[in-house]
Amino acid sequence: MSDSNSTIILAIESSCDETSAAIIRDGKVLSNTIATQKVHERYGGVVPELASRAHMQNIVPVVDVAIKDAGITKEEITAVAFTQAPGLIGSLLVGACFAKSFAQARGLPLIAVHHMQAHVLAHFIESKPEFPFLCLTVSGGHTQIVLCRDYLDMEVLGETIDDAAGEAFDKVAKMLGLPYPGGPLVDKYAQEGDPLKFKFPMSEMKNYEFSFSGIKTSVLYFLQAQKKLDPQFIENNLKDICASVQYTLVNMLMNKLKKAARELNIKHIGIAGGVSANSGLRKAIKETGEKLGWQVYIPKFEYCTDNAAMIGITGYHKYLKRQFTDLAITPSARASWSIV
Ligand code: KG4
Ligand code: ZN
Repeated sequence: MSDSNSTIILAIESSCDETSAAIIRDGKVLSNTIATQKVHERYGGVVPELASRAHMQNIVPVVDVAIKDAGITKEEITAVAFTQAPGLIGSLLVGACFAKSFAQARGLPLIAVHHMQAHVLAHFIESKPEFPFLCLTVSGGHTQIVLCRDYLDMEVLGETIDDAAGEAFDKVAKMLGLPYPGGPLVDKYAQEGDPLKFKFPMSEMKNYEFSFSGIKTSVLYFLQAQKKLDPQFIENNLKDICASVQYTLVNMLMNKLKKAARELNIKHIGIAGGVSANSGLRKAIKETGEKLGWQVYIPKFEYCTDNAAMIGITGYHKYLKRQFTDLAITPSARASWSIV
């Protein structure tokens, strides 16, 4: 039981292919339940309609487990937070409808959360970076450098103009015949390969922008040419190809992060999103941090990939500022996010 002055938030995340619910009491995570949808594997990518259907099946049991794991009752919940944008619209609708219904039925305040802001605030679940804080958010859908002046005062300094970093990993993995999502497998093979064996071009974008379509095309042409000479080229060189591609992608990410840190003179720096699980990126940011005197932050793995705990922590800070929304709110697939 909690005392009656506690703020207990039920948080819901359903923007893509993870159905997740979390309970946050006074900014601390009591539970974080995640149902990963396996159904997409056989299609080599997320199928939006199947994702919506799986969310429909998962949402009630996932919320039930989150409440039980937290050791509370639903009567103790004081507010409901949910991912309002961005994401797959059918998936977002399931979470939004559930959150709105729960809030209305129990007469609770409703809090709309931006998924990308939540990825940044995932850092504040278990540590306390100092502001200004710089975050490189790298996921399957986004690649952004975010300047965080305060919990709810953030600015996207630059982002990808085409593919996200995770997409680049996944698409290269597909070319290599690896199953979806291929990012973790590229990482696994890369750990035993030579990162300097093959050279791929790094795009030079202005300011803090990224572009990953060039490296994707160059890997494709490279593989096509090599396979003409040796049909077994991929099998014979898989680890070195993975290591070389990963080395290039990590350098592209790190170069922009170093530029932003230098130009803004920020020393508290973190990575977030699914690709922050990448061993090459983790090693690179730790080494760079030691060299340049950064304080480096990397969230626990379950808070890097999509999860409701990060929605809950964002919801908590919005709760403190009384940033509530009314029931007329609708989810948005592409809500812009230059300044929150
Ligand atoms: O943040 P996330 O779970 O979902 C989105 O919001 O997109 O990120 C998923 C992405 C996928 O592209 C996946 O391949 C990539 O993160 N990923 C990795 C690794 N683990 C996950 N990419 C490279 N190396 C990894 N170890
Ligand atoms: Zn995400």
